[in-house]
Amino acid sequence: KKSQAWSALFSEPMSDLVKRYTSSVFFDKRLWQADITGSLAHAGMLAAQGIISAQDLADIQRGMAQITQEIEAGSFEWKLDLEDVHLNIEARLTQLIGDAGKRLHTGRSRNDQVATDVRLWLRGEIDLIGTLLTELQWALLDVAERHVDVILPGFTHLQVAQPVSFGHHMLAYVEMFSRDAQRMLEVRSRVNRLPLGAAALAGTSYPLDRERVARTLGMVDTQGAAQVCQNSLDAVSDRDFAIEFTAAASLCMVHISRMSEELVLWMSQNFGFIKIADRFTTGSSIMPQKKNPDVPELARGKTGRVVGHLMGLITLMKGQPLAYNKDNQEDKEPLFDTVDTLKDTLRIFAEMIGGQLNPVSGQKEGGITVNAQAMEQAALRGYATATDLADYLVKKGLPFRDAHETVAHAVKAAITHQVDLSELPLTVLKSFNNSIEKDVYDCLSLRGSLNARDILGGTAPKQVCSQIAQHKARLS
Ligand code: ARG
Repeated sequence: KKSQAWSALFSEPMSDLVKRYTSSVFFDKRLWQADITGSLAHAGMLAAQGIISAQDLADIQRGMAQITQEIEAGSFEWKLDLEDVHLNIEARLTQLIGDAGKRLHTGRSRNDQVATDVRLWLRGEIDLIGTLLTELQWALLDVAERHVDVILPGFTHLQVAQPVSFGHHMLAYVEMFSRDAQRMLEVRSRVNRLPLGAAALAGTSYPLDRERVARTLGMVDTQGAAQVCQNSLDAVSDRDFAIEFTAAASLCMVHISRMSEELVLWMSQNFGFIKIADRFTTGSSIMPQKKNPDVPELARGKTGRVVGHLMGLITLMKGQPLAYNKDNQEDKEPLFDTVDTLKDTLRIFAEMIGGQLNPVSGQKEGGITVNAQAMEQAALRGYATATDLADYLVKKGLPFRDAHETVAHAVKAAITHQVDLSELPLTVLKSFNNSIEKDVYDCLSLRGSLNARDILGGTAPKQVCSQIAQHKARLS
């Protein structure tokens, strides 16, 4: 009995070792829905073109409906012998409906079939990722809005630099994730293109209507025009769309990872800036006092994993001659794992930061808790308003470089006396430059420093509020 799709030519069955080595069904079965959707679009077109009969199409539709049920119910028997998801479904179809099942593959190859399936599946996942990125941005916006007036030390080189609004700090991440969402959409437009009709590599002699299949599958541009891969060799062989996606996912994870690093620092006793809800922390089996930020740490670690998948995929592609090569079967596990990791991470971060909606109160609860006092104290400790004093002297007519030097002396004096700049008496400040007057204390305060940065993109609360409004309008 024939058990392989090509067995007539072979004088001996495939070795068990090779079967196991080459089969992909245990991971690519998750493409089943895309595979059936693609097959139904192909069959519909074959019937419309008179290549198969209306009866064949009806049988295929009936068979696929049953297979769908079986897979959903968990009763479908996946067979390693049948190598991959495509051959498993096709074999079952033929078992159910006979010859019509064998006609489904007319004008098609697994090469254009698998490329189509991966694209369809990835398109759906990109849409889910887009929703999660929106939710994460809302969570950050919510925290930003409640903390516009909270001041934390902004760092460069992890040394206290200038005071910034905590809301402003949160909005920096909103910017990053909004670009990630944009990138996902751009990748989507290139993912959403039809390989079917390329057949094995050269196209097919059947009069297929590729544009019809593309439209059926929603592979259309913003104007509704069918998006069809224009070169059969390219259509079946390149996985650049998967690489681009993984690159966009890597960048998104890098943004998550930077934020994770900050959350971990801020949670340490030496900062004490924030708390995250207990359900997002873990204890220690030996040290009873511990609450560890395992979630952000793990996210930072998982970033390495996703970046690794990017390296894996791009290396997979680099030596392949045109057209399809079996190498490409290796695109799936890294791609699947990238999607799973990114989705899980975005979901958990949206909730860890923004909290969970309480259906009774309609309020979000359990997001990060901000210790405004600890943040301000930390900003006060680091001479964060030194630049403001220099700017003050510039307004009095000093060239900036001279002002910079003068303030360095003032900071040195403050360090010696273990006080903040704002705590130096006017007489002492005047000894550095006689043009300094009482109004200097306005600019030496954290709030004065913040308010002064009233420029587009700056940290003045007024600017932060207007940015929040713009982001809300964009996301609504
Ligand atoms: N499982 C294969 C893959 O993932 C399907 C295509 C196989 N085509 C072939 N000629 N062996 O790429």
